[in-house]
Amino acid sequence: MSFDIQSKDSLGGRYSRRDFLRLGGAGLAGATLLGAAGCGRGGGSDSGGGGGDGESFTIKLSHVTTEDTPKGLASQRFKELVEEKSGGRITVEVYPNSELYGDEDELQALQSGSVQMLAPSSAKFTTIAPEIQVLDLPFIFDTPEEIPQVVSEDSAVGRAVFENQALADRNMKVMGLWDNGFMQLTANREVIQPEDMQGLKVRIQPSDVIQAQMEAWGAEPTPMAFAEVYNALQQGVIGGQENTYSNIFSQNFHTAQSHMTGSAHHYLGYVLVINNEFFNGLPSELQQNVSEAANEATSYNREIALEENEEAKQQILETDIQFTELSSEQRQAFKDVVVPQVWDEYADVIGQDIIQELKERQA
Ligand code: LMR
Repeated sequence: MSFDIQSKDSLGGRYSRRDFLRLGGAGLAGATLLGAAGCGRGGGSDSGGGGGDGESFTIKLSHVTTEDTPKGLASQRFKELVEEKSGGRITVEVYPNSELYGDEDELQALQSGSVQMLAPSSAKFTTIAPEIQVLDLPFIFDTPEEIPQVVSEDSAVGRAVFENQALADRNMKVMGLWDNGFMQLTANREVIQPEDMQGLKVRIQPSDVIQAQMEAWGAEPTPMAFAEVYNALQQGVIGGQENTYSNIFSQNFHTAQSHMTGSAHHYLGYVLVINNEFFNGLPSELQQNVSEAANEATSYNREIALEENEEAKQQILETDIQFTELSSEQRQAFKDVVVPQVWDEYADVIGQDIIQELKERQA
């Protein structure tokens, strides 16, 4: 049966692909979708926590980027690893590109158990776990080679994420830190010095730290969901945005902008989280499968993030966008406006000890 989920359905209503999936679209189409009720538990004989032999489970992993990004590829790898390790007892359904849940509702969906896993960027946790904005601080890295060291599980930054109490209190268990490299700027004007940002309406993720850095450069930061950025650029609601090359290319942001600046001004990291109650309800051998798969998918993500971004950058450069890679002096001029000012401004939110450790690294 063919069912065009983008168009009018037989009930006469208009369903987006997202509505379709959320409603357990296969049900609308007269089929059955395992795990559509959102509890994550598949068929099987046992119902108690811990499960029994042979019981099967479904993990819905929702995210907002396309499949061919560092996050999309790592999610797919995670799926393959979990399904293989669990001998098929766990099925992972990956929903990319905000098609099931987007920035505005995915954390709620995780807490309520409508999905079991997510990999939102650090900024998306600002309201519930503001300390995680440590990853949004401007210029904490100068080169991508420094990333693994700074965000390792036992670094001050890593502990702020992995041992985060606010996430634990909200039934979220951190399974890994994924990576998508550095944020670059695109705009409808040339930007090569902080003054060029004056009055530029720039889309940002909902992070106070990112807002503060944009304001320090004189820009007008506009928090907005990722899925809305392309249209907002096209319609001139915003004049610029910041993102990694991979996100810029896969969302076509570069086609709606005249200029791009290689600024590498802050990091884009993801916190891979699972609904803790769901995880605790898995038999212990399946918990181990999920943890191992998360670790292996994390290593894979780190391996590909750099090259995926480099490839995306080259593809963008083949278009007629005007590109400037900031020289180290030009980049330093942007840095001087926000470091250490923004770091100090948020030291109480993030933790004085963490800021101190970051400063010592740069000294
Ligand atoms: C954004 O909102 O710009 C990013 O967090 C999207 C993503 O998940 O990479």
